[in-house]
Amino acid sequence: MPISLRSRFAVDDAQVSALHARAFGHPAGAPAEPWSQRLERHALTWIGAFDGERLVGFVQVCWDGGAHAFLLDTAVNPDNQHQAIGTALVKAATDEAEAAGCEWLHVDFEPHLAPFYLKTCGFRPTPAGLIHFS
Ligand SMILES: CC(C)(COP(=O)(O)OP(=O)(O)OC[C@H]1O[C@@H](n2cnc3c(N)ncnc32)[C@H](O)[C@@H]1OP(=O)(O)O)[C@@H](O)C(=O)NCCC(=O)NCCS
Repeated sequence: MPISLRSRFAVDDAQVSALHARAFGHPAGAPAEPWSQRLERHALTWIGAFDGERLVGFVQVCWDGGAHAFLLDTAVNPDNQHQAIGTALVKAATDEAEAAGCEWLHVDFEPHLAPFYLKTCGFRPTPAGLIHFS
């Protein structure tokens, strides 16, 4: 069955939490995060990649309501990686941010993902800063 992308799909918190944990290698079984509520309040859009009704990929775009948007939580189920699903999700998110009138789409990532974001998805490198509140 081909993978389909669904924008602003009806979010099942447990489903997105489980996918996120699998993709990022977090332990399974943690309580579900309130994804649906957070996305409705803070996201410009979110997109799911579905194999039938099974969620196998996810990305969201947060924004300032103006020129700047930020790509977050790009995740593809480990068994479904390297099938261009991540690229399709980021492309769909990029198109929606542009259509919404954003001027800039930001992303940050660990060094090993530079080929994905910079070569495959079309971002250009830029100096950036980060503070971790621990
Ligand atoms: C990053 C991620 C979303 C990519 O999803 P994907 O569907 O496998 O990506 P694609 O198949 O579209 O990848 C296209 C190309 O990008 C590059 N790429 C993808 N994932 C990569 C990785 N983990 N490391 C290095 N390069 C990668 C490769 O060149 C790949 O081409 P290939 O499949 O021929 O090797 C997925 O690996 C993932 O969920 N990782 C764990 C969560 C994470 O770290 N998310 C990023 C948060 S910033």
